[in-house]
Amino acid sequence: MDKLIITGGVRLDGEIRISGAKNSALPILAATLLGDSPITICNLPHLHDITTMIELFGRMGIEPIIDEKLSVEVDARAIKTLVAPYELVKTMRASILVLGPMVARFGEAEVALPGGCAIGSRPVDLHIRGLEAMGAKIDVEAGYIKAKAPEGGLVGANFHFDMVSVTGTENIMMAAALANGRSVLTNAAREPEVVDLANCLIAMGAKIEGAGTDTITIDGVKRLGGATFSVMPDRIETGTYLVAAAATGGRVKVKDTDPSTLGAVLEKLEEAGAVVTCGPDWIELDMQGKRPKAVSLVTAPYPEFPTDMQAQFIALNAIADGVGTIVETVFENRFMHVHEMLRMGAQIQVEGNTATVTGAERLVGAPVMATDLRASASLVIAALVAEGDTLIDRIYHIDRGYECIEEKLQLLGAKIRRVPG
Ligand code: EPU
Repeated sequence: MDKLIITGGVRLDGEIRISGAKNSALPILAATLLGDSPITICNLPHLHDITTMIELFGRMGIEPIIDEKLSVEVDARAIKTLVAPYELVKTMRASILVLGPMVARFGEAEVALPGGCAIGSRPVDLHIRGLEAMGAKIDVEAGYIKAKAPEGGLVGANFHFDMVSVTGTENIMMAAALANGRSVLTNAAREPEVVDLANCLIAMGAKIEGAGTDTITIDGVKRLGGATFSVMPDRIETGTYLVAAAATGGRVKVKDTDPSTLGAVLEKLEEAGAVVTCGPDWIELDMQGKRPKAVSLVTAPYPEFPTDMQAQFIALNAIADGVGTIVETVFENRFMHVHEMLRMGAQIQVEGNTATVTGAERLVGAPVMATDLRASASLVIAALVAEGDTLIDRIYHIDRGYECIEEKLQLLGAKIRRVPG
């Protein structure tokens, strides 16, 4: 298993480009299953999760055509089996995103039930109930979700999400795009990735209104297809590099990004003392050599502060001036990184869903272990500010969501290298 070795203490300074958004690319790839002619997706990030989705397509008999810039052309007409097997689903929960499109387009699907994961039990009951509301018959049997559309196809429905679910909203919106009649989804997720998916579906011929609000109206159409779509920039990758620069007292300009998707994050970075300047597709953050001030925050669905940036802000608070309180309301068990940071000298107390972080004058490099994607990113940030060397084990988690992380950090002056193991 590869490891990262980071020698801390360098103030980051430089410019990098942001990749396409993982959490937009995955549902958009799933949406290509709805098409009855080839669809081309551009600006896909070069990430392990994307490769897993493409491998899943391969298992179903679809051979996406990939060019050297990682644009992918998918022709779903080639599909042979309607099964997403456990050995792939267990490595990537987002495989559940093929369920809605397959039932809507081909009338049936079998998708392995994702298990729990490092950040909580994460059920998929809303995905199932949404499809049932559209008339699908669903049995959960032998670890698989077996879904069948009624004769004549799914029927548009009004569906209310008891909890805001990002992939739940995406799955039901994709299914509704090919259902008969109108669907109205209420308490829908407002995440920018949901909007990006809606825009891709619209480019494929779907009739969707209200994406980005909590009520999405979809008028089902008979066919979808024949589009080229470019995935939005990754707002969490963007935020992660901004926090890394802030934690080291440095400066960074991130390009090819979208500042309008980062409101709550930029606000907290300014509160921490950063000078933030934005252009149409770039953000510059300058800490002017200062130590950050501790910030308090509560995670919640968009447009509130994203749970996917929580771990990185714990790392920032760990070396900040003052005490910050971080409350996690989206996932029940997303503080695994705290235990690793304690090994580096951080002062953090966790009680229930609240972490109280008292900024330390210094962190010290130590061997640590990555437990999930964003936890790994927070350990990288802690390592960048720690004295001496930090060895981060199990970095396959990082490769699921950060394209070329060591190259990008090296461009900013960090001392980071990968050791194969
Ligand atoms: N939930 C249910 N039932 C459901 C679905 C969700 O109870 O049927 C609960 C979950 O257990 C959780 C909450 O609802 O407590 C929100 O989960 P959501 O469904 O929104 O999460 P997700 O769609 O599985 C996506 C991202 C995550 C991100 C969350 C929250 C993708 C592929 N994944 O997950 O990204 O943390 O939304 O914003 O879009 C990451 O990139 O590191 C990551 C984990």
